[in-house]
Amino acid sequence: MDILPLTRRPSWRALQAHFEKLHTVHLRTLFAEDPRRGERFALEALGLYFDYSKHRVTEETLRLLIGLAEESGLRRRIDAMFGGEKINVTEQRAVLHVALRAPKGATIVVDGENVVPQVHAVLERMAAFAERIRNGNWRGHTGKPIRNIVNIGIGGSDLGPVMAYEALRFYSRRALTFRFVSNVDATDFVEATHDLDQAETLFIVSSKTFTTLETMTNARTARQWCLQALGDESAIAKHFVAVSTNAAEVTKFGIDTGNMFGFWDWVGGRYSMDSAIGLSTMIAIGPQQFQAMLDGFRAVDEHFRSTPFERNIPVLMGLLSIWYNNFFGAQTVAVLPYEQYLKRFPAYLQQLTMESNGKQVTLDGSVVDYQTSPVYWGEPGTNGQHSFYQLIHQGTKLIPCDLIGFAKPLHSVGRHHDLLMANVFAQAEALAFGKPADQVRAEGVPQALVAHRVFEGNIPTTTLLAERLTPETLGKLVALYEHSVFTQGAVWGINSFDQWGVELGKALAQRIVPELEGAGEPELRHDSSTNALIRRYRRQRGSE
Ligand code: F6P
Repeated sequence: MDILPLTRRPSWRALQAHFEKLHTVHLRTLFAEDPRRGERFALEALGLYFDYSKHRVTEETLRLLIGLAEESGLRRRIDAMFGGEKINVTEQRAVLHVALRAPKGATIVVDGENVVPQVHAVLERMAAFAERIRNGNWRGHTGKPIRNIVNIGIGGSDLGPVMAYEALRFYSRRALTFRFVSNVDATDFVEATHDLDQAETLFIVSSKTFTTLETMTNARTARQWCLQALGDESAIAKHFVAVSTNAAEVTKFGIDTGNMFGFWDWVGGRYSMDSAIGLSTMIAIGPQQFQAMLDGFRAVDEHFRSTPFERNIPVLMGLLSIWYNNFFGAQTVAVLPYEQYLKRFPAYLQQLTMESNGKQVTLDGSVVDYQTSPVYWGEPGTNGQHSFYQLIHQGTKLIPCDLIGFAKPLHSVGRHHDLLMANVFAQAEALAFGKPADQVRAEGVPQALVAHRVFEGNIPTTTLLAERLTPETLGKLVALYEHSVFTQGAVWGINSFDQWGVELGKALAQRIVPELEGAGEPELRHDSSTNALIRRYRRQRGSE
């Protein structure tokens, strides 16, 4: 079925006309008109409570947004993804992170082969290895048990592992120390290892391609660091394992493929935290809890695949994001978890959302005439409240916010949790309803200050409430955003699964490296700014 270009679709035009009428309507009015709005625009599913009542939408808006999803072929795209079709057309790859959490008996065929048994075979090897480390049965070169696990990776091979470790630290084996090295800046490696004993340290070199400059540089440094204390090449087998799709490069690096955990080209880096890339997570929380996390992912996969769009949480999340991004012109989305353990969740989401949907052409290569991915950012509440919330409340930009909270704390200490959650509810209330000038005046504020004390409100929020942060809940949260990204990408007609935009900088850096390291004055053929910067760097570095 041919799909019209996005901005020519009838549903798009209808939304444009609808926006003209609705964009001046205040949430105060919408709530006043419908006393049950708070319950009617909320969903309970997956053990989650998804409150989208504080969005600038009516039933008509939702009907039109769902019409847009349908007209954009979202249903067909979902079926294509789950069916293993090569929807990553620029790389001719299937997109099957959903297979990573498929149950053992499921069948998902790629190139004539059911990939589910392979997924479970790797999970079983990971579990056996994780247990050996956790029980102290995997010994280092000198016979000492492993106490420190250092994941070396970058992008999807780092952000998922570090986010999941921080998020699930409560469930982690506290006798083990976990560190994450990603940056090619040596500081990252040095600080991560300065207090570790080589004899007790295991490196997990995580890289889908096993060619990434940052990761391979850090892995080589780690190798040197180990050898300098342990002396002997045979130590490497006890202190290095690899997670990769590239067995040849793993072998070349000197890691036995017996110590390699594989995954497949149909797992995108930013969709890989539940593949073998999650090995550090599994060592931290154990195979059972890792399985619980996968169950959480899977519950959302099933919900996404089978729930009508009107009650489909990731579909609604994606469509609401489009509503603000494409009609209100909102440039960013703030993700504000009221849970300290989720402190790296916004950083994780930045790669998931922006590397996926930061695209300027559609699947057939035509330049888009509409906005694609907004900028995602955020910090845990309540810290953000004492920093950037000022701008959200009274600045000039419209910033839709996702507030994430939990009914039950992981640490029941005094009044902390009630105070924390009071802030979730208060912020959503303040952002939606604000404080108009007459109310400010009625409170006796001097006239000269009234304008400064007014809160316009009408700032949209989603409040996502879960019972408690568990591995299963984390899996659900991540999968919700994965499928929200998918929904947005499907409507925009872009490829959410490639990342050509990272290539140019990589290639130029490769060209500049010898110009920084070579002897003599290199002949520089860049623009005058880059030439001057390189010369100045060489001069200063030379006089160290
Ligand atoms: O930044 C580009 C990218 O390819 C990401 O998509 C990926 O997650 C990251 O680099 C790391 O790649 P690899 O796992 O192959 O080292």
